[in-house]
Amino acid sequence: MKIVVSIGGSVLARDLKPLNFKNYADVIRYISKKNIVFIVTGGGKAAREYISVARELGTDEATCDLIGIELTRLNARLLIAALGEDAYFEPPLNYTEAKRASLMGKIVVMGGVTPGQTTDAVSAVLAEYIGADLLINATSIDGVYTSDPKKNKDAIKFEKMTPEQLVEIVMKTEMKAGANSPVDLLAAKIIERSNIETIVLNGEIPRNILEAVNGKHKGTVIKK
Ligand code: UTP
Repeated sequence: MKIVVSIGGSVLARDLKPLNFKNYADVIRYISKKNIVFIVTGGGKAAREYISVARELGTDEATCDLIGIELTRLNARLLIAALGEDAYFEPPLNYTEAKRASLMGKIVVMGGVTPGQTTDAVSAVLAEYIGADLLINATSIDGVYTSDPKKNKDAIKFEKMTPEQLVEIVMKTEMKAGANSPVDLLAAKIIERSNIETIVLNGEIPRNILEAVNGKHKGTVIKK
């Protein structure tokens, strides 16, 4: 299978400890023995801190995004360091470069590519572009809920949902300021148009990613 895994910066670099990166690298290396694997890393807390400093200094939003992209790429570099020879040596700057790198038989690890989006969208476009069989979104929530579970105790987790339902939920969430959306709207729309099977799961435990590849997980499956 061709698999794209998006690992949120908030889970991958939650405490910036080498062991954390090693644990993800072990799982990714294992999955790559039988599958073609692409990883997209998020920026996490560091990205948010850098962006907030830049914003307070009066920097425009597009430049803040470029700063965020640098941070996502730094996390990608750390994961590449943990993967050693098994990974392509640097994060590709765009999708064509990522595809070319994968043809060398290496695990490809990349961060953001362009302002105005997040790495959720990068992973969805990459999945579409390389013809992925599966997109895994390993994040800090354990699936897609009817509303933000951090704010609403009555929120119910979907075991399975259609891409159309995902778009609907994300639109409702994104319209509320400060809301925590499971994936960004652009990613949801790409998932909808390509109908890529997607799993949103709790990425805090690296093993959950392996379990999802094996069809056993407690996240949300998005499929027609
Ligand atoms: P993330 O994908 O990490 O955003 O990108 P996030 O929603 O904060 O994700 P978590 O918390 O790690 O799950 C960090 C920032 O980098 C910029 C955006 O500003 C984003 O908020 N970015 C990232 C881009 O502008 N373009 C990209 O392609 C990727």
